[in-house]
Amino acid sequence: MTSGLGNSQLDLVTGAFSYSGQAIAEQLLARGHGVRTLTAHAPGADASGIEVADYRFDDPVELAQSFEGVHTFYNTYWVRFAHGRSSHEVAVANSMMLFEAAARAGVQRIVHVSITHPSIESPLPYFSGKAKVERALAGSGVPFSIVRPAILFGGNDVLLNNIAWLLRNLPVFAIGGSGDYRIRGIHVDDLARLVIAQDDESRSDSVIDGVGPDRPTFTELVLAVRAATKSKCRVIHVPLQAIPPASRVLGRFLRDVLLTRDELMAMAQGLADTDGPSTGSISVLQWLDHHGDQLGLDYANELERHFAAPSGLVSTTV
Ligand SMILES: NC(=O)c1ccc[n+]([C@@H]2O[C@H](COP(=O)([O-])OP(=O)(O)OC[C@H]3O[C@@H](n4cnc5c(N)ncnc54)[C@H](OP(=O)(O)O)[C@@H]3O)[C@@H](O)[C@H]2O)c1
Repeated sequence: MTSGLGNSQLDLVTGAFSYSGQAIAEQLLARGHGVRTLTAHAPGADASGIEVADYRFDDPVELAQSFEGVHTFYNTYWVRFAHGRSSHEVAVANSMMLFEAAARAGVQRIVHVSITHPSIESPLPYFSGKAKVERALAGSGVPFSIVRPAILFGGNDVLLNNIAWLLRNLPVFAIGGSGDYRIRGIHVDDLARLVIAQDDESRSDSVIDGVGPDRPTFTELVLAVRAATKSKCRVIHVPLQAIPPASRVLGRFLRDVLLTRDELMAMAQGLADTDGPSTGSISVLQWLDHHGDQLGLDYANELERHFAAPSGLVSTTV
């Protein structure tokens, strides 16, 4: 197998046509690296110069072949919530397969995107699953760096975009509880820069939070989106437990999962915030001021993005 990339470093980025993987792939290509991706959602005609392969979780040998010739593996693979045959347990098992495949193929370094505050003891499967994946990575034998973002914004984002969409389209927006829990987002381009900076052979294994300079409370964030989109929507506070059923009803209309109970609990418990220094430079509040006119014009549907049958899939065997 050849990469066709001359002497440039070949890296593998999961999800190069999705969200954070796209930002990482674009920055790697701009630095002259070759990029291979694993994805279930490749565009029909790929003019980006990215090599494309399927996630072959059904075949460890094929999966390992996807990593042949790869210097650094940037792992963004994860599932946001359980749905259909996808679950956090499946995502943990698949993540372990990715690390084993990378190790088997002789990958030099794994840079893994995790989440702030992962914990094996967490009652939230997202957070306990992420901790299991981090533990598996540490045991993989491959030098590694872990970057832990709380929430991403910018680009093709779902969370802020859909808050904006709701504020543009509903007469009332309900915040669960006091809304005084803090949200420390990082711009997706800052995350990509931070992630790529971890590809440094002189570094020992490391863990770093991926967090921006601002820590608005959830209420402050919603009000900033409201101002940026010039929405006239009323913002009210309701008991925390009223949000999951309201979100389910809205989700039925939108044919999506807007916000899971676990995601709400994680935010309300402060898991989307950290005390440490900022590792990103873009201020979410300033970014909103400049991008409010474009934010939330269309609804970003997570089920369509990740759970609908892939269309126009082109798989290139690498
Ligand atoms: N987005 C955030 O606000 C946020 C916040 C904190 C932490 N993180 C972490 O950052 C990492 C990347 O997140 P992201 O939002 O950038 O993810 P993403 O681009 O939407 O997806 C990343 C990769 O996972 C695959 N994937 C996602 N959902 C899947 C599903 N249900 N079934 C099968 N494959 C699925 C995607 O497949 P395709 O290539 O086929 O699309 C893609 O390759 C994750 O580890 C996440 O936990 C994200």
